[in-house]
Amino acid sequence: MSRFPGSICGELLMKIRAVYPGTFDPVTNGHLDLIQRCSALFDDVVVAILRNSDKTPFFATEERVEMLEDVVKGLKNVSVVTFQGLLVGFAEQIKASVIVRGIRAVSDYEYELQMALMNRRLSSRVETVFLMPAETYSYLSSRLVKEISALGGSVRGLVPPIVEQRLKRRHGRRR
Ligand code: PNS
Repeated sequence: MSRFPGSICGELLMKIRAVYPGTFDPVTNGHLDLIQRCSALFDDVVVAILRNSDKTPFFATEERVEMLEDVVKGLKNVSVVTFQGLLVGFAEQIKASVIVRGIRAVSDYEYELQMALMNRRLSSRVETVFLMPAETYSYLSSRLVKEISALGGSVRGLVPPIVEQRLKRRHGRRR
């Protein structure tokens, strides 16, 4: 019999909180796919939107929070917050032991590897985990979504309906 209650093979079961950080300007179906995968893998998932980045965002932080909260409302172990400053500092503060980043294609890998290794240097208590979204989303990005929408193209199926509506509203279109 195990030495610890609630344990398997004598190992204590620990709950794992993961943080999924990003700009989410705006959230796409690729992000949502990743959030669903995180929700199934980890006990608790904190989607963390970076505030005050160097980039001027298209959607204000509050709007990005609203859209993300809407799309994750069916996932009970997922919450949405904002953060500023160092990601690892934030992860430690909320007691997250995992940072999740998505890799769509080999082209993402170099930048993500650099960031993951730098974050590891900054904190050995937080581990980066890479997840792949469904292949359908391998060419999808927030930047392309904004560009297509600004030029009058359809982004249906690429972003959640609330994002599609907000993009149309911002571009002064009704349909
Ligand atoms: O969605 P993005 O723009 O690819 O997300 C990038 C993000 C927010 C994860 C990254 O810019 C970040 O972690 N910023 C916080 C500042 C920080 O910790 N910088 C050091 C990274 S090694």
